[in-house]
Amino acid sequence: MITYLEEARQFQLDTPHASYVAALADDGFLCHVYWGKRIAPQDMTALLRLQEPPFVPTENERERASFMDCAPFEYPVSGTGDYREAAFGMETASGVRVCALRYVSHRIFRGKHAPAGLPHTWGEGAETLAVTMQDKYSGLRVTLYYTVFEGLDAVIRSASCENAGTEPITLTRVLSASVDLDDDRFEMLTLYGSWARERQVQRRPLMHGKQRLDSLRGESSHQYSPFFALLRPQTTEESGQAFGFSLIYSGNFMLQAELTQFCQTRAQIGIQPEDFAWELPPGAVFDAPETALVYSETGLGGMSRTYHQLWMTHLIRSPWRDRDRPVLINNWEATYFDFDLEKLKAIADEAAALGIGLFVLDDGWFGHRDSDNCSLGDWTPDPRKLPGGLKPLTDHITAKGMKFGLWFEPEMISPDSDLFRAHPDYAIGTPGTDRTQSRAQYVLDYSREEVREAVWAQMKRILDSAPVSYIKWDMNRQLTEVPRRTLWHGYVLGVYALMERLVTEYPDILLESCSGGGARFDPGLLYYSPQIWASDDTDAKERLRIQYGASLFMPPSAIGAHVSVCPNHATGRNTPFETRAHVAMNGTFGYELDVRQLSDEEKAQIPAQIARYKEIAHLVRSGRLYRLGDPFAPSGFAAQSFADFDAWMYVSPDGREALFTFVQITAEPNMKSRRVTLAGLDPETAYRYTLCGKEYVHTGAYLMQCGVLIPNLWGDMKSVQILLKATGEKGEMRSAE
Ligand code: DGJ
Repeated sequence: MITYLEEARQFQLDTPHASYVAALADDGFLCHVYWGKRIAPQDMTALLRLQEPPFVPTENERERASFMDCAPFEYPVSGTGDYREAAFGMETASGVRVCALRYVSHRIFRGKHAPAGLPHTWGEGAETLAVTMQDKYSGLRVTLYYTVFEGLDAVIRSASCENAGTEPITLTRVLSASVDLDDDRFEMLTLYGSWARERQVQRRPLMHGKQRLDSLRGESSHQYSPFFALLRPQTTEESGQAFGFSLIYSGNFMLQAELTQFCQTRAQIGIQPEDFAWELPPGAVFDAPETALVYSETGLGGMSRTYHQLWMTHLIRSPWRDRDRPVLINNWEATYFDFDLEKLKAIADEAAALGIGLFVLDDGWFGHRDSDNCSLGDWTPDPRKLPGGLKPLTDHITAKGMKFGLWFEPEMISPDSDLFRAHPDYAIGTPGTDRTQSRAQYVLDYSREEVREAVWAQMKRILDSAPVSYIKWDMNRQLTEVPRRTLWHGYVLGVYALMERLVTEYPDILLESCSGGGARFDPGLLYYSPQIWASDDTDAKERLRIQYGASLFMPPSAIGAHVSVCPNHATGRNTPFETRAHVAMNGTFGYELDVRQLSDEEKAQIPAQIARYKEIAHLVRSGRLYRLGDPFAPSGFAAQSFADFDAWMYVSPDGREALFTFVQITAEPNMKSRRVTLAGLDPETAYRYTLCGKEYVHTGAYLMQCGVLIPNLWGDMKSVQILLKATGEKGEMRSAE
């Protein structure tokens, strides 16, 4: 609900447990007043210190800079006395960089603004506050949008800039949100990593100065994620305040928390301002990406569950969002580039016999691609590997009752490709300088329509000629030698435009995006693809961390997760086949191996694993996630981080069903069984479950207060999975035996 208190000139956005309040100060400044536990609307403007010398903005011109450098602005600009990080910057054609954004008008309406060409939230139950401000010098108008959706503790913010003046303007910085919190008692949680080590979690006290993470790679990146949270020092997995910030964007970004001289915290997120520019001729409009601010007073867990629900109900559009995804087998780790029709058919035969539903042909099927040295841009089947094209393979696969999926890397071009020989200018580069190769390839200039068209025509030919029901859209390098500052964002808009075309023209295709593992694992891509390959590291132990970090802000059903062979190709580690499956079921489940090479014992487990996944897929998709363990312990911080284990639960929205998974990371000798308390269940409901071959019925209260005993399992990375179902009776503490 959004209220405007006329007299106080104060806006208030209320969600089930939170309030977000902004108010107008003299001179038309839009100031931040409050974000936290829900409170009844009332005049809060005393908190703005507007009567406190030297902060009176109009009466004390002499100390104007003191006011500017302290007032809590909703959308700060630089150059007029606020020396903290700005949210907005511009330059007019005649060189004026000073800008004074002042309130002009506001609107409160049902529905929401949709930023042009960008992924964005949508759907029923939205209410929006739009506050328009204008620069008194250039005439430029900035509208700040704040949307709330019924039932969710989230505020969606974005900014839209319109050149309502007469001179061309260059935008140099347009962040999506800036929040000035009148407080310094925060810790900052961020995600960092690298290829095959994505989404590691770090949490540190906020220090004076700027704590910033960003990407200048052209994608959101393996290294950092466009998400962070401010937490109270005492905040845990299930208790305490958490303030989340997540940007719906897949390109360069920056996020920052700045602890100021007055012990206030300026928290910001948006497009990376470094090397950013956007030309805005008179009359033109620029939309910044949306960002979702989430408030939780039930710790990190509450924050994550709100993000999951928000993205699932108001961001993902694919019809696959609510469908059971097919259990797939991908040939990448099975064959890499070394395959032919017969080999693929043989793998597919075994996979089909075991009940796998979708065969995905990964990299290496096109051009003359025997290694990663060539052929990107030439999307025609390699006749040496696939004589007669894809048809003999797809005929074989579909005859076995399986679906067929195909890998593309549409944004790339190899120097050794017909496309490059015909159009060397299609690759991004700065005239007069060398292009830097990465994985022996260049990036296509997707800001140019004819470049996208050249790729699309080829993709379309394939999609119209073969029964492709799944696409893996990969992107394996970052941008270099970017010739103009507008290209960074123009590139991302181009990628979104082509993805939009794909999902519009082929709405039933299940699209999985990917970027050398998880370098573009962000909510922006959820708008097009309901699942994203999370990492090229399929090692179950590493995946515990990667998937834990990913689950902080992304829904588990978006996390691409596969069972692969051991020793694992990324780490050389051996883990039990059963645990690999339990870990991969914490995401979109599949296999990435040559089934022919598995032992009989491993192969025999596959049909039961598939059956189990089908039984629980709806819980991973729509259940509420409760993280019970912390794979980052002992440096971790989750509720039960005293031991070297990880555990998590999904509870159905009606509380009638739950899936509990426990992984003993390191075995300890001479240890007793471990008591683990569950979470998220209905205390009154009795649940039936089987543990170590014995059936039990216990109430949710018992399971959450007293817990279950997990035996000391013999061996590292051993796991237990328990499915709990409501019996319909009130429970008692009894064994069914
Ligand atoms: C990177 C992806 O993450 C892998 O799964 C695989 O598709 C390779 N690219 C293929 O080149």
